[in-house]
Amino acid sequence: MNEDNKLKRTLNEEDEPEIPAKKASNHANIVANHYNHLEQKGLRERFNSPILYLRNFNNWVKSVLIQEYSDKVREKNYLRSLRVLDICCGKGGDLSKWQKARADHVVFADIAEVSVQQCRERYDDMYRRFGRLFTAEFIAADCSRDTLRDKYKDPSIKYDLVSCQFGLHYSFESLKQARRMLLNISECLKPGGYFFGTIPDAYEIVSRCKKSPENLFENRICNIKLMFDSEKDGFPLFGAKYDFHLEGVVDCPEFLVYFDMFTKLALECGLELVYKAGFSDFYKEHLEKYKDLLPKIKCFENYPAPPGRELIGDELEYEHAKKYIENVSDKSKKDYLTMSKSEWEVASESS
Ligand SMILES: C[S@@+](CC[C@H](N)C(=O)[O-])C[C@H]1O[C@@H](n2cnc3c(N)ncnc32)[C@H](O)[C@@H]1O
Repeated sequence: MNEDNKLKRTLNEEDEPEIPAKKASNHANIVANHYNHLEQKGLRERFNSPILYLRNFNNWVKSVLIQEYSDKVREKNYLRSLRVLDICCGKGGDLSKWQKARADHVVFADIAEVSVQQCRERYDDMYRRFGRLFTAEFIAADCSRDTLRDKYKDPSIKYDLVSCQFGLHYSFESLKQARRMLLNISECLKPGGYFFGTIPDAYEIVSRCKKSPENLFENRICNIKLMFDSEKDGFPLFGAKYDFHLEGVVDCPEFLVYFDMFTKLALECGLELVYKAGFSDFYKEHLEKYKDLLPKIKCFENYPAPPGRELIGDELEYEHAKKYIENVSDKSKKDYLTMSKSEWEVASESS
């Protein structure tokens, strides 16, 4: 059987072995439970977080994506009102980005009902502070199993944009779930509208984990362990589970997304791939246009640490910065903006 046939066979739902319902819902419960119990962090705690710059950098990437695709919609029709689906929205980390993009209506959906409630509270708070804000709907649902259209106030709604940030990979537990997630994304998207998202890069994860006999990659802030035996079973297209722990933010099972399969499934749901990049290339490509946003969001750390401050990681994590300063010809340049090695290892693992 050639590769193409293999793919066709796997795409055929009848051929796929059913996941026992108990096992399948167990993963969803673990994920929902984990996110439901994540503490809301105050400003001081966030500022002292060991992943402060990684978080800020991820926010820069999401801000750029939201701005770029909102602009693309408006390029076509300036007066068009912007309707958005933020799927796997979490606690609403992108609320203020949608406000900046002048969205008119945003539907927020997530499996973790506590997160959805917190998202609603943050929205209400913003509404009180600003007076004028987009209208919003909040839906607690498993977006890889439920049909979201049945839950909208207006089931005939048509979105200009659908955004799924760091959430799509959870649905790659099975073909059925990935397909339902992609149908939720595409079903109400206007022709010519855009879907954009961010996911962990399966190739990066596998290549890093494969360097250790335990199939484990770890550094100061994260550890990732492949939970399947690739020597024995190869790489399953769905259900390729790994455990992911990221300091204070993530601690649950996730699934590798084989990007070619994702592209094929997405096309089947009417979504055509127009752009793909790893975070490192995305940064290079958008740096010039969005460089003013970097210091505002505080994406990088000063090396060496300014007087009275400490570096987020230990000195060994800044060898690259040290080398740069030693080699720079302009000797007045005594500091450098950078990210600790551990944080960059995680950031560069997403696309
Ligand atoms: C890493 S968080 C990202 C949250 C948010 N998009 C952000 O960027 O801040 C992943 C989110 O995906 C949600 N999620 C995971 N599986 C889901 C599913 N099957 N349906 C809906 N949401 C899901 C989790 O509850 C969590 O809030």
